Amino acid sequence: MQLRIEKIDYEGNGVCHNNGKVLFVKGSLKDELVEAHLVKEGKRFSIYETDQVLKKSPLRKEATCPFFKSCGGCVFDIVSYSDSLALKKEMVEDLFRQQGIGNFDLEILSSPKHYGYRNKISLKVQNGQFGYFEEETHQFVPIKNCLLAKEAIQNFLQDFSLLNFYEGSIMIRVNENDELLLAIETQDLPKIHEKILLNHKIAGILLNGKCVYNAPFFIERMDHLLYKVHAESFFQVNFDIAEKIALDIEKVFTKEDVLYDLYCGVGYFSLKLARIVKQVVGIELNQKAIFNAIYNASLNNISNVSFHVGKVEDLLEKIPLKANKVVVDPPRSGLHKNVRKVLKEKKFEKIVYISCNPKTLVRDLQDLLEVYEIESIKLYDMFPFTKHVEVLAVLKLK
Ligand SMILES: C[S@@+](CC[C@H](N)C(=O)[O-])C[C@H]1O[C@@H](n2cnc3c(N)ncnc32)[C@H](O)[C@@H]1O
Repeated sequence: MQLRIEKIDYEGNGVCHNNGKVLFVKGSLKDELVEAHLVKEGKRFSIYETDQVLKKSPLRKEATCPFFKSCGGCVFDIVSYSDSLALKKEMVEDLFRQQGIGNFDLEILSSPKHYGYRNKISLKVQNGQFGYFEEETHQFVPIKNCLLAKEAIQNFLQDFSLLNFYEGSIMIRVNENDELLLAIETQDLPKIHEKILLNHKIAGILLNGKCVYNAPFFIERMDHLLYKVHAESFFQVNFDIAEKIALDIEKVFTKEDVLYDLYCGVGYFSLKLARIVKQVVGIELNQKAIFNAIYNASLNNISNVSFHVGKVEDLLEKIPLKANKVVVDPPRSGLHKNVRKVLKEKKFEKIVYISCNPKTLVRDLQDLLEVYEIESIKLYDMFPFTKHVEVLAVLKLK
């Protein structure tokens, strides 16, 4: 079917209309004429995939990744890096305007590394091949490499067959010292081949949640701070950008402040900000991450922090120590409605909202802006060439 693309949506797909229905067209750009096939039929919208570009956008270039078409993870690999930044900026600005948050001319900070920036990837394994699941169809897409992963991970993938496992999944993480942490889930019996240990710096291997080689964690160093990170704890995936975000957040705080760091993980922001403010209280659901955070405070000789394990929506109201400012860095689902309610009731001086999903950020802002107003919003290209973008919104009490 031939389709003329009207615009790009905030998922990075081309958009057009046909018989009153919205069509999202993967692999297409604004103003292009494409030949595309149906991937998923819905009542109000359908998803198509581009087979051939009949009239090209001036922005279009050849994809750098050989798996671009089948994998689909890097929607912007068909434009230059600077054009991908402009498209992401436009996507978020459109979303904010359409959802009534306001008209913004947003700054977007580029990533120093365009490829080789990710310190963690999670792969599916089928028939001894590794790959990703396609987002819409959940079909397995085998790959031989992922250009987004840091070099040590890409090198490890060359030796993947030595693991001798055929069905399941593997998460591979790397720290600044190129040490790898592997977490394998499978019913097979993978082998820890000596060659893997000799060719790569392996900090630890977990098999179905149990540590089977060395340790279930590694130590990461960022900006003179050390962080113990368990294989199952969240940690920032693009360090260069995470450091830039932390630097911008630091400007919001003074030594008088008491701060809640909600969704604190292993204490990345808590420990950085503890050097500036009077006291930090962190809340996090994952017990392994909280144990890491407590250890990380002592590892770095930081004593003005405390951490609580549990859901933010359950604990926020119960913290005895009163804070005047809050950092929230929730998962893609954004803030639970009870969290938004308490944030509005408590009337904090400032809320620093770090979001990896502009859609849920907008939903949360629509609620929080009853009590707060936007002081600043900035975008960070944490995930180059993918549709994802990190947003930092600083809110102040009206
Ligand atoms: C985007 S990460 C941010 C982590 C941390 N701020 C950092 O920079 O490393 C979100 C974190 O929220 C945690 N989380 C998810 N749902 C939660 C909830 N309902 N309450 C508390 N923590 C939650 C996850 O375990 C994860 O560590």
